[in-house]
Amino acid sequence: MAPLKLAFVFGTRPEAIKLAPIIVAAQARPAEFDVEVISTGQHREMLDQMLEWFEIDATVDLAVMRPDQTITFITSAVLGGVGAHFENSRPDWVIVHGDTTTTFAAALAAFYQRLPVAHVEAGLRTGDIYSPYPEEMNRLLTTRLTSLHLAPTGAARSNLLAEGVPADRIVVTGNPGIDALMLTLAKLTPPAGRPARPEPGPARNLLVTMHRRENHGAPMGGICRAVLDLLDRYPDLTVTLPLHLSPRVREIVLPLLGEHPRVDLCEPLAYPQFVAAMARATLILSDSGGVQEEAPSMGKPVLVLREMTERPEAVAAGAAVIVGADRELIVSVAARLLDDRDAYAQMATVVNPFGDGTAAQQILAALVDHR
Ligand code: UD1
Ligand code: UDP
Repeated sequence: MAPLKLAFVFGTRPEAIKLAPIIVAAQARPAEFDVEVISTGQHREMLDQMLEWFEIDATVDLAVMRPDQTITFITSAVLGGVGAHFENSRPDWVIVHGDTTTTFAAALAAFYQRLPVAHVEAGLRTGDIYSPYPEEMNRLLTTRLTSLHLAPTGAARSNLLAEGVPADRIVVTGNPGIDALMLTLAKLTPPAGRPARPEPGPARNLLVTMHRRENHGAPMGGICRAVLDLLDRYPDLTVTLPLHLSPRVREIVLPLLGEHPRVDLCEPLAYPQFVAAMARATLILSDSGGVQEEAPSMGKPVLVLREMTERPEAVAAGAAVIVGADRELIVSVAARLLDDRDAYAQMATVVNPFGDGTAAQQILAALVDHR
């Protein structure tokens, strides 16, 4: 039988991290899979540092990124570029991940060419189309364009069933982000991993990431002020904050935290360095989707800087708390974890509900079964 032709499309840092284990696993089986890697280039530096780590070369790079780009611009550039590519390339599957504008526009481009779409990390929902914005709508629209839904958890599968997706088009696979984390932990020297006895102190570090569009402006200011409050309260505390390259993030964070002697505002970290930073951290504060999934495997409590999460599994398991951008709530929840060993230990010793590192192989099997 001819190899199954797989076209992977991604554009941003998290898509590259989570599709990488599937791409690498497929490329290792050339008799079975013919792999095409299409980068929209919605991100540039933050994407390139991930592709370098996972040693992935894009077959095509549309290089769409512009400074301070709008979602309308990204949608039209990706739709046009990916659509033109698929006029000449006829893969058996177009594989997209998650909920970015690349995800939705690439799925639409595939649909216009009558190509079947497989959606990795399918079925995540908050139920509010403005939170996260525009990602919740990107997910809903991508679901409608998808023929094979690769759901990370049973809860994601239930969301899809409730929207009328046929059960035989959904496969629960776990999240390949956990595969990426495990591959990276195995490659890191010296090894970084879950500490044998996770507990706070003596040198305590807060790892902070934020970038969501709904946090731009005043909410991000509130989060920065909460970080300053915690630095005042705990003289031993240091903060590591890899700054997203978006100008909308930098214009808020730099004036508020840029001069503090115990805040390290670094450039975006390459994935292995970020994993090592998670290993060093005492607590994580983040509005990131991927970080919520990774933190339980690193044995680190995570405060979710969002009003709601499409990853309720982490909260239910006890590894994450939703704090939004509420300055007082962030300070009180973080202080409780910094002060109370038992409360900390409870959050730091949770089994990861998002996968066991075998999602990539399960996804390849599903693509073969549903060809
Ligand atoms: C995008 C996704 C979001 C995802 C996030 C991951 C959309 C609408 N948003 O948000 O779902 O969680 O990526 O980080 O798809 N920039 C650079 N270099 C880079 C990356 C970004 O300079 O490598 C700057 C550019 O000025 C760019 C801006 O950041 O215009 C915003 O990038 P964009 O992809 O539009 O939005 P994100 O906030 O990164
Ligand atoms: N990450 C990274 N370097 C950083 C910050 C984050 O490699 O400086 C990784 C992180 O481990 C996770 C992913 O990037 O796997 C999350 O990306 P982001 O927060 O940009 O997007 P989201 O997951 O919210 O869509």
